[in-house]
Amino acid sequence: MVKEISRQISEPHQLTLLRLPDFDIRYCTGCYRCLIKDKGCVLRDDLSTVLASIADADALIFAVPTYFMSAHSCLKVFLDRGISFYGMADRLWGKPAVGLGIAGIEGKEGSTLLDIEKLFATILAKNKMSKIIYGALPGEVMFNEENKQVAAELARSLFGQKKAAKGICCPLCGGKTFRFLEENVVRCMLCSDAGTLTVKDDRLVLDIEVSEHALLANKDEALKHRDWLLGMVARFKEHKDQLKEVAAEYADETLWIKPKR
Ligand SMILES: Cc1cc2nc3c(=O)[nH]c(=O)nc-3n(C[C@H](O)[C@H](O)[C@H](O)COP(=O)(O)O)c2cc1C
Repeated sequence: MVKEISRQISEPHQLTLLRLPDFDIRYCTGCYRCLIKDKGCVLRDDLSTVLASIADADALIFAVPTYFMSAHSCLKVFLDRGISFYGMADRLWGKPAVGLGIAGIEGKEGSTLLDIEKLFATILAKNKMSKIIYGALPGEVMFNEENKQVAAELARSLFGQKKAAKGICCPLCGGKTFRFLEENVVRCMLCSDAGTLTVKDDRLVLDIEVSEHALLANKDEALKHRDWLLGMVARFKEHKDQLKEVAAEYADETLWIKPKR
């Protein structure tokens, strides 16, 4: 489908492909050293190759299969390394992007579309359009001619004007996935800000309030969040001994099961 989208892009371009699972992308350990040094992650794996290829691209086409009601875990493992993206922010952020989620069973894509939106929000890409299509077997999506139309639509959208979203969406981030909390309170699952859903003149009206941590909203907010994290590093140093004491109290209590190697 990525190649089909590329074929249908009218602007001359060179498609370069990358499969995340081919790369050794390790779990983030939360050491925050990438933040302090701004030099990238200390883990010696393939993250920098992937980031450099995104940075070199003028635009992104992202496709991911649904595994157990969400995007394949390779996406989450990659996104968890997001604190080290700040060091390359100027090169990574702001690219036009289209996304495609593939699910085997109609309606059973779970959070896949949201996961794609989260990727684009994290790298502050311009999400021009993202869609879900269905096909269980490898390549089966091509049995359905309508999916070629979806590819054409995504191809047109990548460098075209962004279409206004249909239906209810978050007024802050454009997210279309919500958690319903008590009474009429809802939380947007993309920006994670909360507000109210009310009926006015027979129409549903969604008001979402911007919170102190609007971390994925735009470049300024993202950099504000990086500064907040730096403040947390300072706080960690300040409380280090106290935190060690807390952990020490529980240190001998567990019989750990370790992997057999
Ligand atoms: C482990 C596993 C879990 C899956 N979970 C779902 C699911 O929750 N919902 C769904 O609609 N399809 C599910 N599928 C089907 C895939 O989304 C579908 O086959 C997709 O086309 C796979 O794309 P691929 O050929 O690129 O791997 C699952 C497939 C696998 C292998």
